[in-house]
Amino acid sequence: MMQPNHMILDLNPPISSLKEEVLKGLRQDQKQLHPKWFYDERGSKLFNQITTLPEYYLTRAEKEILTTFHSDICALIGHNSPLFELGCGSEEKIQLILESLQRGNRYVPIDISQEALNNTVEKLLDTFPLLDVKAIRADYTQALSFLCQSSKEQKVILFLGSTIGNLEENDREKFLCQLAKNINHHDGLLIGIDLKKSPLLLEAAYNDSQGITAEFNKNLLHRMNRELHANFQVEQFTHHAFFNNDKNRIEMHLISKTNQEVKIGDETFSFLSEETIHTENSYKFDLKEFEQALVKVGLCLRNFWTDKQNYFAVTYIEPIPK
Ligand code: AVJ
Repeated sequence: MMQPNHMILDLNPPISSLKEEVLKGLRQDQKQLHPKWFYDERGSKLFNQITTLPEYYLTRAEKEILTTFHSDICALIGHNSPLFELGCGSEEKIQLILESLQRGNRYVPIDISQEALNNTVEKLLDTFPLLDVKAIRADYTQALSFLCQSSKEQKVILFLGSTIGNLEENDREKFLCQLAKNINHHDGLLIGIDLKKSPLLLEAAYNDSQGITAEFNKNLLHRMNRELHANFQVEQFTHHAFFNNDKNRIEMHLISKTNQEVKIGDETFSFLSEETIHTENSYKFDLKEFEQALVKVGLCLRNFWTDKQNYFAVTYIEPIPK
């Protein structure tokens, strides 16, 4: 277990907020659930498995970038800046960065999953026993205002893994705008983005042959059964992931195999055969367009690095100098 002195804040949404959000999402014409609910204990484990799948190139490509260009990246980060990581997931990537930095870099992981935080902190302390770690359990949009108020020193905010791809265009703009407003002129952002590529490669990454992504998707239903006492018959839903060309995103859905009804508390939800719950968007980026979106909110792309295959990019972003 993580020692309590490494935990400074717990903004974890209570069960009631899970329930409220789930009900609201399922009442829509297009039923939907927010991808942040994937990450309970089992979901976090499944996601870690996804990152090692042969078809899921994202994590490998990003690690290749962090390894190949670590001296350039760390030169921009600097040796004393505290590092805030949004949606830390596992410890491997931050380890690659910290290896080249010094103990002066306080590390603040922010994640919605207690499991992921425990894991990250524990493994990091094995490697860097003297590292100053302060974890925050929260969803990253909540944590942003907290972290921006809290620190007057130069800081770097890491948002890796293309998690920014979960946000729809409007929300992404709002999020970047909020970041831009709250960071100081010498602060930096290290953001990982998955690049546009052949839909075949994209679709393979979200339809792995071992069916781990399907399990990850269906875990949402198991989770609602476990935590909200819903009665989803999980075998009556199938995983579906496809590339939406107009919107430049992978969409994940759960498709109902039949006409069926599901109860959550006293509310009943009807599903037609073939009706879906939309569970995730994962946008794919063009570097030029991403750069234009940054400029629009007062940020600039200071540098970027890609893997050999040009699948993924890690970007270093700063406020536009006044
Ligand atoms: C964590 C949002 C970056 O979109 O690729 C992986 C989540 N979903 N497989 C992604 C995910 C299905 C992942 N992100």
